[in-house]
Amino acid sequence: MDNQLPPVIEDETLVPAYTLPDVLRDESGAAVTSAAQWQTQRAYLRRLFETHVYGTMPPAGQVTATIDEMSDQALEGRAVRQQVSLEIAPGHHVRLLVYRPRTEQPVPVFLGLNFRGNHTIQPDPHIQLTTSWVAARPGVVEYRATDATRGSQTSRWPVSQIVDRGYAVATIYAGDISPDKNDQFRDSVHTRFYRPGQTAPAATEWGTLAAWAWGLSRALDYLITDPALGPVAVVGHSRMGKAALWAGATDERFALTISSNSGCGGAALFRRCFGETIAAINRLAPYWFCQNFHQYDQREADLPVDQHMLLALIAPRPLYIASATEDLWADPRGEFLSAVHASPVYDLLGSVGLPAHDFPAPDQPVTGGLIGYHLRTGPHDITAYDWDCYMDFADHHLK
Ligand code: GCU
Repeated sequence: MDNQLPPVIEDETLVPAYTLPDVLRDESGAAVTSAAQWQTQRAYLRRLFETHVYGTMPPAGQVTATIDEMSDQALEGRAVRQQVSLEIAPGHHVRLLVYRPRTEQPVPVFLGLNFRGNHTIQPDPHIQLTTSWVAARPGVVEYRATDATRGSQTSRWPVSQIVDRGYAVATIYAGDISPDKNDQFRDSVHTRFYRPGQTAPAATEWGTLAAWAWGLSRALDYLITDPALGPVAVVGHSRMGKAALWAGATDERFALTISSNSGCGGAALFRRCFGETIAAINRLAPYWFCQNFHQYDQREADLPVDQHMLLALIAPRPLYIASATEDLWADPRGEFLSAVHASPVYDLLGSVGLPAHDFPAPDQPVTGGLIGYHLRTGPHDITAYDWDCYMDFADHHLK
């Protein structure tokens, strides 16, 4: 790979001319015109994403759950808190944290991975600290979770607001599944699936994003067994938004998929080369995608898929994409256009995808179809405003 990456494009007039692969053209070039044909096409597109982008995932095994802790006095008595140890692969445990309202009826759930440990989502001293590696960050050099970071991510996880609107929230620290570092997957769930003598995933086997997505599906295996819980939405911000989209695309049990500012490798179209590009993301985190994906550095036009096809894999289930005005690195317009170009698949399946073709003004959510979209004013983040929009959408589709 060249050492020099091309200058970053953050000006619409500099976006190169491009042609998107047609989501409704099959392997032989024929038009896909029926719901039955779409099923074949969907399987074909999924294989392309596995082979060229995210890598293949191992099959699900038995997930064993142990309730470590439970209280019906969480959030000043308004919620039930549950901490569950899940053995997602032989010898590999992750901790699932759930808050749910104290109601009799099953409630829909938002399931998402967190960046820094379950204890960061809420200043609740009962949340167990992860024993997995956590990244250092400016001012806080910690490679193990400590009490110092309790509640540090509460603005991204408005647990009270979610519970008060009648939803449960469930989360796992992504690093419990696969640490976000370039260490040859040493402490990752990947190692549990190595064949004898194998020391790294093969070129078309899963990277870290696919491991996170796979972990979300293992959490779902457990959540659907809890009678207190209803349909499960998968949600994620940024790199966890990429993982949420791949989880929603590959696991049809997710009733709703939500991506916040997922950008390159998430909702944004690769071929626009706006903001983060394939070469840039592969340099930043060479372990996120499968090794095969690296051959597309600065060759986006040769990739057999683009991200409207990823979104289309979710059809006809509901999908919500959120961007932010200042988050040019994630290409807000490219995220919107991806939703526009996924919509013909929703049409084919007899529903409406995104009911708009024009990029909306900030803070004017596009709703009324099975794909929702908004462009929040502000920086790269997931905020209380975003959550309110997700819950407005979920009120329509999950309740
Ligand atoms: C970096 C990376 C993005 C990613 C983001 C995040 O900015 O380039 O692809 O989405 O980190 O996860 O916060």
